Amino acid sequence: MSEPLVLIERKDSLAIVRLNRPDKLNALSPDMLRALAETLESLNADEQVRVIVLYGGERAFAAGADIEAMAKAGPVDIYLRNTRALWQRIWGIDKPVVAAVRGVAFGGGCELALGCDLIVAGQTARFAQPEIKLGIMPGAGGTQRLARAIGPARAMEMVLTGEPLAAEAALQAGLVNRVVADEQVLDAALELAGVVAERPAVAVRLARQALRYGLERTLLEGMELERRNYLMTYDTQDQKEGMGAFLEKRKPEFRGK
Ligand code: COA
Repeated sequence: MSEPLVLIERKDSLAIVRLNRPDKLNALSPDMLRALAETLESLNADEQVRVIVLYGGERAFAAGADIEAMAKAGPVDIYLRNTRALWQRIWGIDKPVVAAVRGVAFGGGCELALGCDLIVAGQTARFAQPEIKLGIMPGAGGTQRLARAIGPARAMEMVLTGEPLAAEAALQAGLVNRVVADEQVLDAALELAGVVAERPAVAVRLARQALRYGLERTLLEGMELERRNYLMTYDTQDQKEGMGAFLEKRKPEFRGK
């Protein structure tokens, strides 16, 4: 039996999803993407899980799409492989995901991190869209999400040169939330995930949904969904508890409902 491509570990209401193809720096083969999509969907459906931490291990978050699987392919092969549908499943889950990045997040690895909600990076982590050096270009959000995350000028430079952004520069550019010592990445990601997990779960998911939805649409459309989701939070027990606890000057006890 070969090793599973994705490993899951549970810590209270957190789930750690670990990409497990270290000899290939977690290159995202179609099998890897499928395993990741299935894992994330199963954790999304699990009521016990509040926040997911996505980790690639010590050497690499992920070094991009699997070049071996692409080198001889034509556009029809790539189209029929339909990794797009797997990416959609990965992006489609509605629980927060924190990326814990050590080493390289290149190509699809950078796009995978960009599709997460929060990013904690190690001090020697590097982010790049190196596809241009292979004669292709990003195809899973690298030209779109990157530009929204760090602005068109910096994104254009990364996409056209293929050169990496070091962790500190990524922090300054707004690509990542925290930079910590390499060996502290997973703990720091778990700590951040833990804070989010303590917040009222329905409001967390509705707020996340509004923010992500708005980034992909016009301001007005985003604000429409924001308002609808905002109103929906008033139908949760946690809203009554949160406001009641504030007025009674006590710590709230959220139930996630
Ligand atoms: N697809 C397939 N295999 C990959 C890979 C990828 N995207 N990235 C790394 N690997 C493999 C290497 O071929 C090597 O396998 P081998 O030991 O069987 O020869 C192994 O992972 C280790 O990579 P290596 O290049 O030896 O490590 P390094 O530390 O010298 O360099 C990188 C690390 C990330 C700079 C380099 O691997 C790289 O440039 N990878 C490709 C990144 C890329 O272009 N991604 C976009 C793809 S569209």
